[in-house]
Formats: sequence, C-alpha cells, structure tokens
Amino acid sequence: MVTGAGGALGTDLVRVLTAGGERFRAFLRADLDITDPAAVEVAVGDWAGGVDEPAVLLNAAAFTAVDLAESDADAARAAHAVNADAPGLLASACARHGARLVHVSTDYVFDGRGPAGRPGAGYEPDDPTGARSVYGRTKELGEQRVRDALDAHHVVRTAWVYGDTGANFVATMARLAGVRDTLDVVDDQHGSPTWSADLAAALVALGRSEAPPGTLHATGSGATTWCGFARAVFEELGADPGRVHGCTTEQFPRPAPRPAWSVLSPTSWTTAGLDPLPDWRDALRTAVTRHPELLGR
Ligand SMILES: NC(=O)c1ccc[n+]([C@@H]2O[C@H](COP(=O)([O-])OP(=O)(O)OC[C@H]3O[C@@H](n4cnc5c(N)ncnc54)[C@H](OP(=O)(O)O)[C@@H]3O)[C@@H](O)[C@H]2O)c1
Repeated sequence: MVTGAGGALGTDLVRVLTAGGERFRAFLRADLDITDPAAVEVAVGDWAGGVDEPAVLLNAAAFTAVDLAESDADAARAAHAVNADAPGLLASACARHGARLVHVSTDYVFDGRGPAGRPGAGYEPDDPTGARSVYGRTKELGEQRVRDALDAHHVVRTAWVYGDTGANFVATMARLAGVRDTLDVVDDQHGSPTWSADLAAALVALGRSEAPPGTLHATGSGATTWCGFARAVFEELGADPGRVHGCTTEQFPRPAPRPAWSVLSPTSWTTAGLDPLPDWRDALRTAVTRHPELLGR
C-alpha cells in the first residue's frame, strides 16, 4: 500500500511495484488524506485484511514546501499535521492490523554540521538529530511517532531527491541553462543526489526483505555540492559546466536554513543486507536518458 502516490517518490513507487508484478493499492492525496484518522483506519484495515502476507505500507506522503513551512503559520501547521501527526496515525493503524510501515524521512532532521568527531563522514542513523527548520522538526517528530507506535517499522532517511514529476533541481538547472549565460549555485552544501526511481526500487526491496526494524539511511552513492550537481546537469545537456559558478549559502539566502552537511552514510543500508543505490552521477545519466523531458527535450 502506497500513500502520497502522486508525489515524486510515490510515482516511482507505483512504477516499481507495477513492473515487479506486485499486488498493491496506491492512494493519491485525493483518495486518502493521511491526516484523517478515520480514513487511515479504514484504508489500512481494508488492505491489511485483504492480503495473505503481512501488509507493507510505504508512506511517501509529506508536506515538502520547506520554505513555506518556515515563513507561513498555516503552512507550518499543515507541515506538522502531515509530517509529524499523520505518521503516528499510520503507524498506529499498522500496529492494529498487523502491517509493517516503511516511512520516509530526511537529512533535515540533522543540524547539518556533520557527525561530531567524524569530519567528512556521513551521518549514521544513531547520530544525534537536531533539526534547524520547521520542516525538519516536523519530520523529526514524525519519526518518533512511528517508533513509539509500531515495532514493525523502518524509518528511511533520504536526501536531495529528484524525480520526473513536479519541480525539481535537474529540470530547473536545465531550464536556466537555456536562458542564462552563467549561473551561481551554492557550493558549500554537501549531499548525495538521489533519483526517486532508485530510491523507490530500494524501498520496495526493503519492504520485501527480512531487515530488522529500525532507522536506515538511503541516498544515491557518492556526494557532491549543489554546484557539482548543476555542473553535471550541464554536462548532460552538452553545455559548458564552466558556466556554473560556485557561490556560498550566504549569497543565496532562503527562508529555511539548509544543512551544510547532508551526507548520509550507506552503512546501515548495506549492513541490513540491501544493495547500495547507484552512484549519483550514473543515476543522473540514466534518469535523463529515461526522461529526456528533464532536460527540456
Ligand atoms: N524531495 C526531497 O529532496 C526529499 C529529501 C529528503 C526526504 N524527502 C522525503 O521523501 C518523501 C517523498 O518526498 P517527495 O520528494 O516525493 O515529495 P513530493 O513530490 O512533494 O510528494 C509528496 C506527496 O505527498 C502528498 N501529500 C501531502 N499532504 C498529504 C496528505 N495530507 N495526505 C496524503 N498525501 C499528502 C502530496 O500531495 P500534493 O502534491 O497534492 O500536496 C504529494 O503528492 C517525503 O517523506 C519527503 O519528506 C524528500
């Protein structure tokens, strides 16, 4: 069962489950509002009661307008309802109906200064969190609600996700390449671009696996900066990556603070017996080959 099926990740979860011949039900926001306790209870109960094996719920629904949540009180309330309260509802319903929950979370739960005492290393799942944005705090709370309500859970933190639906960094850079001679892109934030198709395949593999419950990290392999990511998009366009100039976070202020260090260690994922996600640079090439519209083609 997939919630948030119309989002970037949700769309790819549906594709992966369809290609794998899985029996599943996908809920768009219009079909299931995950903040509605009665609707969640009915949906999870119906699905879990209708399958032979233990049901797996993949929650891809979230309030992801990070800057809006920071600057607008109504948006902050909505973020809290969707990212903090609703995962608790889903987890409680899963507990009542014997289902497992794979819940997706984010690098924004960390303060972005990197793991203490391990400079240059990726965050491990048990490193202390300390979100600095409204969005990050709501996701941090959501994780905790899941852990509190349900043993049979996986909280999977990811980062820098792009897909072929909705606004995303790749399409934005490709569009700007066509209208600007040069581009300033932040070069002091580090992370791992994650193609939603790779993440979806990884989450489905997790759902099928015997991996013990807990918190895991899953992103594209390797790391770069937003500037490095933008230069890679220019390379895929056949444009000169030298047109992309590095700038600092201070030169590009945003309402919500961005983590300077978003790199998540893959160790928890591989230790659980799961295949690492492809290298981020290779994934970008595959993504734009499969979805040339990302490059405006
Ligand atoms: N994108 C990233 O860079 C990134 C990074 C780290 C972690 N994540 C996490 O990855 C997961 C998937 O994100 P994404 O990039 O696929 O986000 P997305 O494209 O914004 O998709 C989220 C989906 O959730 C839906 N939704 C919102 N409120 C809902 C509600 N009350 N009930 C049911 N559905 C609701 C949205 O519908 P509407 O569009 O109609 O609102 C949208 O279809 C989220 O947990 C996110 O926090 C994303």
